[in-house]
Amino acid sequence: MTHSLTTLFAAMALASSLGAGIAQASPISTDDNRITSETFANPLLRNGADPWLEYFNGNYYLTTTTWTSELVMRKSPTIAGLADAPAHNIWSGTDKSRCCNFWAFEFHPLQTADGLRWYVIYTSGVAENFDGQRNHILESEGSDPMGPYQFKGTPMPDHWNIDGSYLEYKDQLYFLWSEWHGKDQVNLIAKMSNPWTVEGEHKVITQPIHDWEKSGLNVNEGPEIIQHEGRTFLVHSASFCNTEDYALGVVELTGTDPMDPAAWTKYDKPFFSKGNGVYGPGHHGFFTSPDGSEDWLIYHGNSSPTDGCSGTRSARAQPFKWDDKGLPQFGEPLADKQQLPVPSGEFGPLKAQVEGVKYRIVNREINQCLITNAKGDVSVSRCDDKASTWVIDQANDGLYRFANVAEGTFLTQENCQDSAISGINATPWVASRCQRWSVDASHDGWFRFANERSIKNLQAANCSTKKGAAVVAGENRVSECTDWRIEPVSKFAIVNAHSGRVVSAQQCDVNANANVVQYEYTANACQQWQATPTTDGYYRLQSSQLTAQKQAQCVISVAGNLQLGSCDKDDSEWRTEYMPNGSLRVVSRKGGSSMKVAGESYANGDNIVEDVWKSTISQQFYFREVK
Ligand code: AHR
Repeated sequence: MTHSLTTLFAAMALASSLGAGIAQASPISTDDNRITSETFANPLLRNGADPWLEYFNGNYYLTTTTWTSELVMRKSPTIAGLADAPAHNIWSGTDKSRCCNFWAFEFHPLQTADGLRWYVIYTSGVAENFDGQRNHILESEGSDPMGPYQFKGTPMPDHWNIDGSYLEYKDQLYFLWSEWHGKDQVNLIAKMSNPWTVEGEHKVITQPIHDWEKSGLNVNEGPEIIQHEGRTFLVHSASFCNTEDYALGVVELTGTDPMDPAAWTKYDKPFFSKGNGVYGPGHHGFFTSPDGSEDWLIYHGNSSPTDGCSGTRSARAQPFKWDDKGLPQFGEPLADKQQLPVPSGEFGPLKAQVEGVKYRIVNREINQCLITNAKGDVSVSRCDDKASTWVIDQANDGLYRFANVAEGTFLTQENCQDSAISGINATPWVASRCQRWSVDASHDGWFRFANERSIKNLQAANCSTKKGAAVVAGENRVSECTDWRIEPVSKFAIVNAHSGRVVSAQQCDVNANANVVQYEYTANACQQWQATPTTDGYYRLQSSQLTAQKQAQCVISVAGNLQLGSCDKDDSEWRTEYMPNGSLRVVSRKGGSSMKVAGESYANGDNIVEDVWKSTISQQFYFREVK
């Protein structure tokens, strides 16, 4: 499995800027229609230590240390939106050796023979203390940073090691991490045979040698790579994280072999340290702006000199430049509440292949699909290609955006004002309120989509019943022609919002009455579901395993318990409702109650039932695309 990190970043930045380049100016991108302001302030997220942030296909994704047994990820089309973006659980730990004290998540995109995959590196250990902390690695099912993820391995199970990261250099993947050697915590490197397996020697490449690296304890940790104009820099945190003197140091690969300690040259001064009321800035990451034109630093810091190395550390972001010697100039930490421009390109205009399950949006009157084209026209017509498939992307404030899979454009109310009927088109994202929609449950699995700006519902013009009808927002408040069905096209995992575990047939049993439980995702066909429409907005749920084995079994509800059974009754029919936080409520046609993880635990094997809707997180699920 080959993995190319560096070229991928270049491709991502190029794609993003291309998207910005191709798009036409949009009449709707006036300020009062913007979903966010042109500036934001730090902290981005309180209790956000060891942050990692990526901008990918139209969204920012952010993880931060949780100290618990959960790995949560936030996503938002705007950087300011990360602050109140819902914390989606993408992994939780139950294995005793790695259940607890989750620290320092990083998620890296690597090109593999199967396409782009995300690799989450995180530190965790035993419940009793921090002595068991080790790096562990997850692999995503596909190109969606939200997962689902499966556990791949623990590169070094035999000794304490934390803060893992990757270096990709001359087509070789290396693992970087920190561990104790005597009284010094040092950064090391090893070659990798795959993204979760180290091989051969471990070599120390940075250690605390200057006084500014020895405040509290002698520490080098959080090694992170940035490559610029052919040069490779390892930027690491120095001094004890519990002190205000925690700072960033820089080591450059001045030799040719990353495994040779002498090939790394440490600069003797810190490149980023306390200032402007921010203490202990460090354990950072790097990202580029949506249009790829700016380099940004994501890091944590305290707002008081005595806050220490716990939950007071907040996530912060600021741009940085390169000087005429080709060195990164991080400057000083920006003060709390100091306004700074959002990353360049956040307001587009940009096209994006937004990650997520693909859906058809089917009009009730015409029984045909919402479709667009390269010109941005939107109508109700054929259902059979990528132009009629959409990702329904949670876009903060309880609203959604509809991203077209073929064109990378977004469903838009054309004349962006409150009143009157408006035409609909699909245009590049400009962060406009005319590009966000509420997704409201009508009845029997039908939905209405109201535009944020006009609060008018999407419908076929004049309530036409003809294929090819134009689409408007406006005439009819509520009628059958404002009803739409959301039909999954992709196969998907059904991920519980609390546990990050997925709905599975117990022991992947295919027989009638097999119980349905949650289990960690293992990419097994019994965990991959497809939805078949029945009547109204209801669907049958069958796993790929069942269809492959021509087993006529579906998920059914029997006296409130979910199990496999015949697909021909109303107890096998399910509909969804969209929650403000982007999760789904999965509702039984027969019982009218909602899918739930009974024990509300992280445990593999926790039973799946239907229960009266109480808005609990164990009743909230995400459909995550599987290949
Ligand atoms: O924040 C938890 C841990 O504290 C981080 O993994 C490490 O960088 C620091 O020592």
